Amino acid sequence: PIPVIIDCDTGVDDALALLLAVRHPGLDVRAITCVAGNTDVDGVVRNTLTVLEQAGAPDIPVARGAERPLIEPARHAPVHGSDGMGDLGLPAPSRRPVDVDAVTLLRREILASPTPVTLIPTAPLTNIALLLRTHPEVTRNIARIVFMGGAVEVGNATPVAEFNVWHDPEAATILLTAGVPITMYGLDVFTRVVVPAPTVHRLRASRDPGTRLAGDLLAHRPATPGGSPDDSEAGGLGDAGAVCTVADPGGVTTRALPVEVSLAPGPTRGQTIVDRRVRPGEAEHHGEGRTTPLVDVAVDVDVDRFVKLYLETVER
Ligand code: BDR
Ligand code: CA
Repeated sequence: PIPVIIDCDTGVDDALALLLAVRHPGLDVRAITCVAGNTDVDGVVRNTLTVLEQAGAPDIPVARGAERPLIEPARHAPVHGSDGMGDLGLPAPSRRPVDVDAVTLLRREILASPTPVTLIPTAPLTNIALLLRTHPEVTRNIARIVFMGGAVEVGNATPVAEFNVWHDPEAATILLTAGVPITMYGLDVFTRVVVPAPTVHRLRASRDPGTRLAGDLLAHRPATPGGSPDDSEAGGLGDAGAVCTVADPGGVTTRALPVEVSLAPGPTRGQTIVDRRVRPGEAEHHGEGRTTPLVDVAVDVDVDRFVKLYLETVER
């Protein structure tokens, strides 16, 4: 299996991502680190531990990370309910996070892995930025970073900025310039992978607590934009799509493109500026002579393939 570490802000769709990752036989989840984003970091830790217990994976180490972005105060996402996880009334977890912070756990697990680790951040990138600045030697054992964040086209936190990048744009810049292979699973693909209502209904009726939780979480996710009213239980996989991308890279189409984050104050702050210009004589950018790092940007997704992968894995 591929060794992976998930850095999350659980979060309804982060929870969907965790359920997939811990049940996928091709992934070995070595650790999970928590950061402020959808809700405050203590809420994220609690939600993450609860999800792992429901999923039947209570032993994966979980660490508490940054409680605010590098520069700005934390600004939580209102769409995830008052507890950050859809107010489903889930039980409190029975264990606590490990007694080291997220950056320390990340360093330890990355360097201890016999094969290079894939990082899957599904949250603001504060923990990852602190890791890269504190322990730059970790990059030698990172295979790739597949992050949910950014957008080629339209934003959600602002007209042009996606929430995870907007919450900590400086951290996102540190990630993008880390010098390791990066895949951006942005809003352009993120919003497209939706589980239809009848399937969500089936998940909610399962006898397995983890499968049931997936159904309840999906039912809490927004229905297909423009969908009919009887689509109301349909829900997007959201962050779980980034985990799908690691488990089944053929499910997305990527292009290697220069990506920069706007750090300017004002209406562009947090925008990912993706350069899609084609230079004369060039089919694709090749990086030579360019200062902006190339990122494998997901520009298309096989929706049915990812939904099938999700269901087959979570309902196992
Ligand atoms: C991202 O923001 C959060 O609300 C979601 O969990 C996802 O990671 C989407 O912009
Ligand atoms: Ca998230």
